[in-house]
Amino acid sequence: MTTEGPPIRRLADWDAATLRDLADGHGTPLYVLDQRRVRENVANLRAAFHEESISYAVKANTVRATLETIAETGIGAECASAGELQRAVDAGFDRLRYTAVNPPAGDLDHVVDLAADPPRDLDLVITVGAADAFEALAERGYDGPLAIRVNPGVGAGHHAKVTTGDAPKFGVPYDRVSELASEIVSRGFDLVGLHAHAGSGIHEASDLAAHRELVSRMGELARELDHDLDFLNVGGGLGIPYRPTDEPLDLDSVAAATREAVGELDARLGIEPGRYVVADAGVLLTTVNTVKPTPETTVVGVDAGMTTLLRPAMYDAYHEIRTLAPDADERESVTATVAGPICETADVLGRGRELPGPERGDVLTIGNAGAYGYEMASNYNSRPRPAVVSLDGGESRLAVERETLSELTRLEIEQ
Ligand code: LLP
Repeated sequence: MTTEGPPIRRLADWDAATLRDLADGHGTPLYVLDQRRVRENVANLRAAFHEESISYAVKANTVRATLETIAETGIGAECASAGELQRAVDAGFDRLRYTAVNPPAGDLDHVVDLAADPPRDLDLVITVGAADAFEALAERGYDGPLAIRVNPGVGAGHHAKVTTGDAPKFGVPYDRVSELASEIVSRGFDLVGLHAHAGSGIHEASDLAAHRELVSRMGELARELDHDLDFLNVGGGLGIPYRPTDEPLDLDSVAAATREAVGELDARLGIEPGRYVVADAGVLLTTVNTVKPTPETTVVGVDAGMTTLLRPAMYDAYHEIRTLAPDADERESVTATVAGPICETADVLGRGRELPGPERGDVLTIGNAGAYGYEMASNYNSRPRPAVVSLDGGESRLAVERETLSELTRLEIEQ
C-alpha cells in the first residue's frame, strides 16, 4: 500500500534537472507522468473516503503505464466507452463500471460480449442513462448487473462545458427513475446501483454546495426506491488548485460533507474521480521556438499548442508555466503570452505570464497536465501527437512514442 502524500504537488516541486534531461533525451513536446504521485493521490483519496468504493475515471488519462499503476492499487475503473473499458481490462482492473453515455451500437456489442466472455473474473456493472439504453442491452441478451444514471437536476464544474448534472444529455430525469427502476427489476434484471455526476473541477464553495445538494437528492431518491441497492455512486469531479495561489481541497471535509448529505443509507457510497488522481502527477514540457516583442506583450512561441494541451483553448483553463532555464535567476522578467504553433487565435497556453527573459531553445514546463492533457491531444494542423514518459522513482521510461509525420496519413487510402 502506498503512503499518502501532500494534498497537491506544485509545479515548483518538480526536479528541474530531471525534467531538463527528459526534454533533452526525448525531445518536446513531451508529457511526463510521475507514477509515484499517482499512487499518493490514490492513497490520499482512500484515506479520506475510506469506506466508500473508489473508481478512477479512466477518461482523464488512459496511458497504459498510468492505468497499470492505478489498477495495482486495487481501486476500480469508470469507463465511458468500449475503448476505455477495453483499456481498463487490459491494464488489469477487475472492478469495472461502464457508464454508457448515448452508447453506439458497436460499444454495446463489445461490452455485452465482454460480460458474456470475460478474460478473467470481472466485476462489471453497466450504468444506463436512458430507458433506450436498457432496451438495447436487453435486446443483446445482456443479463448482468445494471445501475441507473440519474439526472439530478443540479450541476457544478469549472466551466459550463463540463457541468453535467443539470444537462439533459446525461442521465434519466430524476422523477422518471423509479419507473425505470421498477421496469428493470420486474423484467428480472439485477439493479445494483444509482449514479449521478455533477460535473468536473468542483473546487469553489458554490460548486461544493451544489455537489452536496446533488448527494442529498440522490440519498433521498435511493431511500424512495422500492428496492435495495448495493451502491450509490455520486460521481467524480473533485477539483485541484491550478493556480499557485489556489488552495487544495480538504478531502476529509469533502468526504465528511458527502457522507452527511447522503443521509441514512443501506448502500455503499461510490465516487469516481479522474482529474484528482492524475492531474498533478503530470507536466508538459515544451521548447521555445520564437520570442517576439510586440507593443502589447512578448509573444513566446512554443512547440506545444492546443493540439497538445487543449484545455486553455477549450475552457480558458489556467495552467501554470515555468521556465527550466538553469540561469533563470539572472534574467530579467517579462510579461509574456505563451502561444502554440497552430493557426488559430485560440492557440494560446497562457496570457500575462511573468517569465524570466525567455530565449529560443528554453524549455518550459506546464503544470497539472496529467489530466485531460495527452488524452485530448489531436492531429489538427497535421501536428503529430507528443510522446509520453513515465517516471517512477529515479527511473524513466518511454510510455507512448511520439507520432511521426508518416503516421499522420496511416489510415488514408490512396485513390
Ligand atoms: N464520472 C463521469 C460520469 C464523468 O463524466 C467524469 C468526467 C468523471 C467521472 C471524472 O470527472 P473528474 O473527476 O475528472 O473531474 N475535459 C474536461 C473534463 C471533462 C470531464 C468529463 N467527465 C477538462 O479538461 O476539464
